[in-house]
Order: sequence, then C-alpha cells, then structure tokens
Amino acid sequence: MLPPGPRTPKILTTYQLLAQPHRYFPLWRERYGDPFTVRAINGDVVITGRPDLIETIFRADHRIYAPFGVEAVGPLVGTGSVFTLEGEPHRRERKLMMPAFHGARMRAYAQTMATAADTGFATLDDGGEHRLLDAMQAISLEVILRAVFGVSDDQNPQDYAETIVSLIEAIHPAFLFMPFLQRRLGGLSPFARFLDRFEEVNVMLDAQIERRRKDPGEDILSMMLAARYEDDGQMSNAQLADELRTLVVAGHETSALSLSWAIDAVLRHPEVETKLRDEIDGLGDDPDPEAIAKLPYLDAVCKETLRRHPILTESLRLLKEPMQLGDDALPAGAVVSPSMVLAHYDPAVFPEPERFDPDRFLDKSYGPFEYLPFGGGHRRCVGAAFAQFEMKIVLGRLLSRYDVSLASPVPPRPVRRNITMAPHDGVPARLTLRRRVSGRPAAEPMRSAS
Ligand code: HEM
Repeated sequence: MLPPGPRTPKILTTYQLLAQPHRYFPLWRERYGDPFTVRAINGDVVITGRPDLIETIFRADHRIYAPFGVEAVGPLVGTGSVFTLEGEPHRRERKLMMPAFHGARMRAYAQTMATAADTGFATLDDGGEHRLLDAMQAISLEVILRAVFGVSDDQNPQDYAETIVSLIEAIHPAFLFMPFLQRRLGGLSPFARFLDRFEEVNVMLDAQIERRRKDPGEDILSMMLAARYEDDGQMSNAQLADELRTLVVAGHETSALSLSWAIDAVLRHPEVETKLRDEIDGLGDDPDPEAIAKLPYLDAVCKETLRRHPILTESLRLLKEPMQLGDDALPAGAVVSPSMVLAHYDPAVFPEPERFDPDRFLDKSYGPFEYLPFGGGHRRCVGAAFAQFEMKIVLGRLLSRYDVSLASPVPPRPVRRNITMAPHDGVPARLTLRRRVSGRPAAEPMRSAS
C-alpha cells in the first residue's frame, strides 16, 4: 500500500509538484506525514525527506530500480547513456567514466574554467545590465566543449557551441513527454527538426571522437577513449557520442543555474559578500584558479547555495520490485524519491533553514542522507566534483575582477525549467570592472585555453 497523499486531480497535483515543490512538499508533509505519495500523470511518486528513509533508498541494491523518465530523455541521450542504462550495464558504464571525473583530475581543468569565465564576462559591456544566467550558460557550455569534448582554439569552438545550442533549442517538451509524437510526419514535425539537428551534432561528435582518438589530450573524452571496461572492451563511437550528449544535458544548465543562484545569494547578503571578497582578494588581483578552488569560505558559499537552492528537487527511481520503506511496503511500479527540498530544509539538521548562512558548512559536514544536491547511491551525479570546482573558479574569477550589483530588489522565485529549478528572472545584474586601490584596472583576462 502506498503512503497517503493529496487526492486532487492528477493534472493539478502534477502541476503543483512540478511548478512549486518548495511550497507544496512541506505542505503535503505536514498534512500527510513523511513519506507521502503524489499521484502524478506519469506515475505514483513516494516522496521523503527523512534521512533514515533516504538512506534506505540510496543503499538499496541497484538491481531493484529502473531509471525514471527514460522516454523523455531517451531521444536526446540515446540507449547507450548512463541516464538510460540500468542494472549491470549501468554499473559497468559508470565504472568506466568515473575516473575521468575524479576530484584529483580537476586540476587539469582549472585553467580552462578560468579562461572560459574571463572571456565570457569580458564579452559583457562594462557597467551594462545583463541576465547573469545567459552569461553563465555560455561559460558552462564553453567549459564542457573544452574540458569534456577537448575542443581547442583552432577548431572554432563557437561553431560547436552553436550546433549544440541548436539541438537543445530543437527539443520540444511535447514530444519528450508524449512519446507517440516522436514521428517525422513528412519532415514537418518538431520531432523531424529535432532529428535533423541531432544528426548534425552526431556528425560533429564523430569527427571530434576521431580527432581525439588520433591525438589524445587532457580532456574527459580522451580519458574515456583510453579507458577499458572490466572485460577489457572499449567504448564504441556510438556509445561515446551518447555519453557526450548526456554530459551536455547533465552538466550545462545545472552548472549555469547553480552559479546564477550563488551570485544572487551572495549579493543579497552583504556580510557574506564582504567576507568572500576579502578571501578572494587575499590571493592578489589575478588569482590562480587552483588556489581559488581551495578557498574554504568560497567552498562553504557554494555548498550553502546548493542547499538553499537545489537545482534538482527529486532523485527519482522506478521500483522494479517491491520495497520496504520504513513502515510502508511499496509495490513494484511505484516511484521512490528522496527530496532535496525537504531534506535541505529540515530544521533538525539545518537550523533556520531559510537563512542563507555559509558558516554552517565551515565547521560542520553533513551526511549523504542529509545533504544531497547531487543525489546519491548508484546514480549519484558523475560530475559532482567537476561542478563544484567549476562553480568556485567561475565565481572566484567574477568577484575578483568585477563589482556586481543586482537589478532587482526582490529575490527571484524558483521556477521549473525542464527538470531544473531556475531563478525566474535569470538574475539581471550590472557588472563593472573593478578598479584596484593602486588605480590599476583588474588584471587582463587569462589568455591560454587548454
Ligand atoms: C551544480 C551542478 C550539478 C548538479 C546540482 C547536479 C545534480 C545531479 C543530480 C541530482 C543527479 C541525479 C542523481 C540521482 O538520481 O541520485 C545528477 C546526475 C548526473 N549528473 Fe549531475 N549535477 C550537476 C552538474 C553535472 C556536471 C557538470 C556533469 C558532467 C559534466 C554531470 C553529470 C551527471 C551525470 C552523467 C548524471 C547521471 C548519473 C547516473 O544516472 O548514473 N552533472 N546530477
């Protein structure tokens, strides 16, 4: 039997679940207890914010689960993606990919991330108003193209960026959520346009895979090309292309959003901004990216941002077998989900949870069932170390070089964009190049891109 939950019509409950999890999840928990069941149009979802139940879900044998929402992401990422694989093939794929994303590897990407940040911000006119989310998206795509795909200056990264963006723009929620619309219809349907862009991206990826096969670099694609499965096999080109598309989908928007939330939160808390600027300025006026990544207060600011503004609000798993979750015997076919919104706002773990307070991460660490911005268990985010490293470097370079002021006095509302939570206004802000005490402008942007 499923735990109780709202009995409103499915279409309304689904809307509430998608549009306003921050409002409805706490309300439903108060009314029905934890866990509660949300009867949504694409399945019954059992949601919890209790660390003991989150532990049960994350620690369960991966074979009892199937990935949720495969029909939605499948056309984009393909059947060879970690998103769509399950069971043993999924475990095997992650094992091959993980070393390229290991924390120790991140040093290789520090300079690339700093250069992408500097050049991205340098395109914005000094003193003008800009949507920071747009700038962060361009930067995070540049980081993926260079650090993950291994695209170099002589290959005209702008062409790559445009091809990828045109594929992302060709995605239409209608055919993602209603798979029967996945038809060409004589080449006129939105799905046909998507397939044309998809083909263009694949041609580009194939060429890049061959380029890196012949001439390996420090990038993640080169690492995946060199890696072996346990049976000594290697990834095929089709498999690699699926994973490269997956890494764009997983890492582009998420990183840009986390950066936008971070800058908004910092600027709305002057005491945090002062402390953070003091720490960054302590590294001089052209801070080394690796040194930036080691700053403790900056690290705490990024962690607190991901607690207070989780980019994904659920970590969904489809049950292939029944599961005992606390007192509830859940049937196969139900979906279980730890909720970041509930866990991160638990006052027993995070006192005054609404308060943005990076200090709570300075002298305390939290368990993986209390703090889960990157999900957990057998599907925990592959790019967690990469994303946190990028967040710190981009934020560090921004604050080191610019004064930033927000255009709106009102904090943005979180709104759902595909599956992520975005600031509704994209964080409009003014960036002004800082003048140092010496009267010199801040250092020139870094040039070398690896
Ligand atoms: C702040 C930025 C990011 C956040 C908040 C985030 C969060 C998440 C979450 C919540 C999941 C699902 C985990 C689960 O179901 O338990 C996930 C999965 C994943 N993420 Fe991230 N992510 C971020 C950035 C990235 C980046 C930069 C990459 C790679 C370049 C990446 C690659 C992946 C992959 C491949 C998966 C699928 C793992 C699997 O199904 O086995 N993510 N991420």
